[in-house]
Amino acid sequence: MKAHIVTLPGDGVGPEVTAAAVAALKTVAARYEHVFTFDEQLIGGAAIDATGESLPAASLAACQSADAVLLGAVGGPKWSDPNASVRPEQGLLALRAALGVYANLRPLQVHPALANLSPLKNEKLKNVDVLFVRELTGGAYFGAKTRSADAATDECKYTVAEVERVVRRAFELARGRRRHLTSVDKANVLETSRLWRSTVQRIAADYPDVKVEHQLVDSMAMLLLTQPSRYDVVVTENLFGDILTDEAAALAGSLGLLPSASMGDGKAGLYEPIHGSAPDIAGQGVANPVGAILSAALLLRHSLGLEAEAIAVEAAVDRVLRHGPHSRDIGGTAGTEAVRDAVLAAIEDHADSTAAFFS
Ligand code: NAD
Ligand code: IPM
Ligand code: MN
Repeated sequence: MKAHIVTLPGDGVGPEVTAAAVAALKTVAARYEHVFTFDEQLIGGAAIDATGESLPAASLAACQSADAVLLGAVGGPKWSDPNASVRPEQGLLALRAALGVYANLRPLQVHPALANLSPLKNEKLKNVDVLFVRELTGGAYFGAKTRSADAATDECKYTVAEVERVVRRAFELARGRRRHLTSVDKANVLETSRLWRSTVQRIAADYPDVKVEHQLVDSMAMLLLTQPSRYDVVVTENLFGDILTDEAAALAGSLGLLPSASMGDGKAGLYEPIHGSAPDIAGQGVANPVGAILSAALLLRHSLGLEAEAIAVEAAVDRVLRHGPHSRDIGGTAGTEAVRDAVLAAIEDHADSTAAFFS
């Protein structure tokens, strides 16, 4: 098949991990006879430096006409002055809003070879398989903001329609898994959470085959550590989902491992690792590219419908996590490019072995 992919490497380790993910996509294209074209565009601090804007019109237009968008990370100390008028993160939020990608899927699995890196005891990590569905285009991120010399506000607003579309998506996803949905809110305090909870309760009637539970976000933060294997699909609002998924990454062993896929009702999906620009290691060639490469696998699956190719990439990552080489964050000494090369070789081997099986 033919597909046009826009890449937004961004800042810090963003370009380093995006290059590895693009290399994986190119290997897939060559091995499975697809034609992928790539168009690199500016976003974040790099875009501010070049154009003064965090999401230039040309970048947005390119994303809107792409089959899928692959993003690295944005932000960094250079642009983090709390009094700055333009910020890299605004570009990412504007992109998510413009693409209408309201459902952010963040899968969490704990690779057995890495279980000893987690702060939790090994036995708690058996059978951990959680799909977080984070609402991505509403809540405090997008409400009205005010700032004066001595006060500031961030309005947190949700409409029923905004809650309903992401919750329905989560119910559908739960149907394809273990049919258990946990909705996380703060309904004991927040009005938006009470709207969220009553919407989930109403929609649950349409999915009698899915077991639903409601969990307050503060105790959820604790339960994620004490009983992670209890959870299947977890749906929550934007800010809670941001925080809980970084916590979840600690179970997997590193923030550098987790991918994400953001989707709406339109065409272009947005794929990005959940980590940021990692300023403390940027430019050293040591960032873990696995979260970005697994995001490319999600792109193959969800935007291009290439399931066998997505599995090839995931199997390749599995082999590298099992046998190495490992980057520093997961206890190894390998750099980004060495991990990338091992994943590319494993994709080739996977393609060879499945081709042999079918011949
Ligand atoms: P971060 O995710 O950048 O880094 C947190 C820690 O995790 C650091 O110690 C870092 O070295 C480590 N880490 C992250 N990714 C890694 C990788 N691939 N391999 C190895 N180690 C990795 O979070 P932060 O430091 O809180 O934020 C830094 C900047 O990134 C901020 O400007 C923030 O806004 C931005 N950010 C961007 C995104 C995004 O673009 N999607 C996501 C999160 C944070
Ligand atoms: C993420 C990041 C972003 C978020 C920031 C950079 C805007 O932390 O993708 O998780 O909070 O959504
Ligand atoms: Mn985050």
